[in-house]
Amino acid sequence: MVKHQSNEMKQREKLSINEEQLQQRINNMSYGDEKSKDWARRWLDVESRGQVGLSLFPVPPIIERGSGDKLYDVDGKEYIDLLSGFSVSALGQCNPEITKTISEQAGKLTHYFDFPHPERIEMAEKLTKMTPIKGEDARVVFGVTGSDSVELAIRAARYYTGRSMVLTAYGDYHGVTYGAMPFTTKGGMRPYFHPIQPQDSGVGYFPFPYAYRGPFGEPPTGESAEEYTLSKLKHYLEFLLESKETPYAEGKSGISNVAAIIVEPFQSSAGYYIPPKGYLKFLRKIADEYGILLIVDEIQTGLGRTGRLWATEWEDVEVDMLLTSKALGGGLPLSAAVARADILEAWGPGAHVSTQAGNVIACAAGNKILDQVSDEAFLKSVKEKGDYFANGLRELQRKYPIIGQIDARGLYIGLEFVKDQKTKEPADEEAQQILEACLEEGIIFEKGGFFHNRFQLIPPLTISYETIDEVIARFDKILSKVNTK
Ligand SMILES: Cc1ncc(COP(=O)(O)O)c(C=O)c1O
Repeated sequence: MVKHQSNEMKQREKLSINEEQLQQRINNMSYGDEKSKDWARRWLDVESRGQVGLSLFPVPPIIERGSGDKLYDVDGKEYIDLLSGFSVSALGQCNPEITKTISEQAGKLTHYFDFPHPERIEMAEKLTKMTPIKGEDARVVFGVTGSDSVELAIRAARYYTGRSMVLTAYGDYHGVTYGAMPFTTKGGMRPYFHPIQPQDSGVGYFPFPYAYRGPFGEPPTGESAEEYTLSKLKHYLEFLLESKETPYAEGKSGISNVAAIIVEPFQSSAGYYIPPKGYLKFLRKIADEYGILLIVDEIQTGLGRTGRLWATEWEDVEVDMLLTSKALGGGLPLSAAVARADILEAWGPGAHVSTQAGNVIACAAGNKILDQVSDEAFLKSVKEKGDYFANGLRELQRKYPIIGQIDARGLYIGLEFVKDQKTKEPADEEAQQILEACLEEGIIFEKGGFFHNRFQLIPPLTISYETIDEVIARFDKILSKVNTK
């Protein structure tokens, strides 16, 4: 008898991982000793196999403690931290000032529901002054996670404009809670939302202008890839909004159904891609033309990561809403949506609430973080260290043509591997081998990329020059052993 299955159900068999494969991964762990393997087994006996660690590494190292730019696993092995808990530990692990603030606040007041307290009010005052929000006044809504603030922003934008559609770029990552998921375009995650697809409810997508491997192909001879890619995107979006055969707008009748455009200023989880200059400026222009709100998700790019407080500042653009999280709580969960006052004053009391939002300890730690990362001298040091790191990588690129592309701004670095610099064929398997060799050599980071061939290097912003030198030396050693042909 034929067994009928939907495509989604068939796909599940390919996606799942069985017990034997898991045990094999643990046994083959070259970067952990017996204790690590024991903890990994215990972990997988009790936690879901959907764990992100199992998609980023064969088995993630089992980390027990950290200090500054170093992490230590349960066997005592030291790793250089090029992940920062995914941009959370911006000032390094166990930063003494943050640790002191957290412990002092824990002895004073720990939590007070989603109600006002001095730490939270101070943080809101700082955020409203520090963010490039359009107009005179800004307001804040606190949340717990990045996804929280994304959902809040979308809800506020739809309520304020009375419109339903929201546009975002392919490759953007805005979280995976049910309301945020439609704005995260990872094909590999879609089956997990089967059978209800959250994107059914009014979301449109456009290509991200990635010039090195552009969605619009190679530029004509003599034209810069950056300018060509951006000009094609401009044409594409203007066509979407001006013509009448799309759900988004109809220029001639003055109809716009789009509440907001939400984008990452640089595309992070996709692989640390920096778009051509002018990307945000253009989005601002069409947002103004069609009465659309421009929301920047700075959850990954913000708080000094790129050498400016916000990546948006590289384009000198003002936005209608800005979202921040990750490093904001000094290692504790906290997020904030900052927006034009008129947007957040359109709704009445009780329109939003979250039990854990604006936690007192997280806000206390976050106030210290905000003071540090907004300091001009600190930002300058991030930029200089980033330039130093990128120069080291460029030297490696001259030696090893497997490095096809380096995107770097401050300590926000994407590294792309190719089999051939001309054809740009992705070196995805080699990138995986290099990642595993790096773990063995004691370096932790994430691998991503549209074609699984990018390294995402995001060390703590306090990383030392010695540690950067050590990373370059270890990469050199590893790359010298990789067969690129
Ligand atoms: C740009 C961006 N937006 C939103 C999110 C979602 O944040 P969270 O995982 O805290 O929900 C992330 C997480 O990586 C992110 O990088």
